[in-house]
Amino acid sequence: MSACLRLVRDPSAIAGADRRANTAGVPGTKPEERRRGLRRTGNDRRDEHGWEAVPLNAIEDGPFSPEEGLLAAARGAREFAQAQYSTFKVGAALETADGQIVTGCNIENATYGLTLCAERVALVKALSEGHTVFTRIAVVADTDAPTPPCGACRQLLWEYCGDVEVILGNLRAPTARHRLAALLPLPFDRRLLHR
Ligand code: THU
Repeated sequence: MSACLRLVRDPSAIAGADRRANTAGVPGTKPEERRRGLRRTGNDRRDEHGWEAVPLNAIEDGPFSPEEGLLAAARGAREFAQAQYSTFKVGAALETADGQIVTGCNIENATYGLTLCAERVALVKALSEGHTVFTRIAVVADTDAPTPPCGACRQLLWEYCGDVEVILGNLRAPTARHRLAALLPLPFDRRLLHR
């Protein structure tokens, strides 16, 4: 786990140089600097705030997109979805800090309410196998519009993964990228307990 992270409660308080968020569109920022800022570091992002959603067209991927493997894993996991009630199959792939991928799919049941989303299945699998630091999650559904994590999944991903990249995609391509902090502004988490 990185020792150099600091807790910043107010994203606007983060100095520009320290803020490794998207700089696309900032005048004078070179493409290679933008890519460097977007590249995952393997650091624990659990306590980082101030990240911004990254519009898909702001990222200049090279000939090989490093996220394509993660999306492919999510597509593969989606094939195992138990979605007999909604018929809405979802796959997720969670990347660990040491580069491993743990997948999940949605698991429905006759009560409906006990349904497990693909993201939470991937997360509990990973935690139960001893993984504790995560960098990215890919979520795939067979839709043109991006399928973002539901509120419950956002809460649990925040708790256990921190401000990871959330890559959304369909069966053909990525459709959107976000930081989890942008999807869950003003989170309730353990820092607010016991004060
Ligand atoms: N679902 C997921 O697995 N992940 C999401 O991000 C959105 C929704 C599942 C839950 C349910 O099985 C089906 O999709 C329809 O809501």
